[in-house]
Amino acid sequence: MKRYVKKDFPVSEVRRFLEPGPIVLVSSQWKGESNIMTMGWHLIMEFEPSLIGCYIWNANHSFSMVRQSKECVINIPTVELATQVVRIGNCSGRDVSKFEAFKLSPIKGEKVDAPLIKECYANLECKLIDSSLIKKYSLFILEVVKAHVAISPKFPKTIHYRGDGLFMISGPTTSKYRKLFKPENL
Ligand SMILES: Cc1cc2nc3c(=O)[nH]c(=O)nc-3n(C[C@H](O)[C@H](O)[C@H](O)COP(=O)(O)O)c2cc1C
Repeated sequence: MKRYVKKDFPVSEVRRFLEPGPIVLVSSQWKGESNIMTMGWHLIMEFEPSLIGCYIWNANHSFSMVRQSKECVINIPTVELATQVVRIGNCSGRDVSKFEAFKLSPIKGEKVDAPLIKECYANLECKLIDSSLIKKYSLFILEVVKAHVAISPKFPKTIHYRGDGLFMISGPTTSKYRKLFKPENL
């Protein structure tokens, strides 16, 4: 068993170990305007209904767009889109029309008016089902009402933020530990 030598670590930096879920692009639409933001802070909250908690900073243009339209799409990009993903997260829809500026194609959703991003591996159409934590925590509780996922590859090369401008690109998948699971936890 590996033994680690440890040191005190600033609590404000621990996010770096917990953060690396895939970075996603949140697309929204309100009053004829569409927008995209980059998001790393999301949290799975329930299987069924399929609930996801998302932190959207109140200074972001997307904050009011998602709050007012009560819907958005969580798009999952792969490594090929990494440059756009960072650039989208470093400008605001107040100043930039992001679909055009980043050459991304909006596609009509089935259950929401917010556009899907065609170039992403997966698109999750979401409805805002609980606004009660927005004011205090900027936490949007979304229900995924429709999912569109590429047929292949089964394990896409998603990008995962490590903080400080560093990304991890998803790597090998193993079934080595699968037999240890209780079936209901699979
Ligand atoms: C890798 C990365 C991850 C980010 N994660 C979040 C996040 O979880 N929540 C958030 O509010 N902003 C996050 N941002 C910042 C927003 O994407 C950024 O403020 C964006 O410009 C907002 O665009 P908007 O004003 O058009 O909504 C992230 C940016 C990057 C580059």
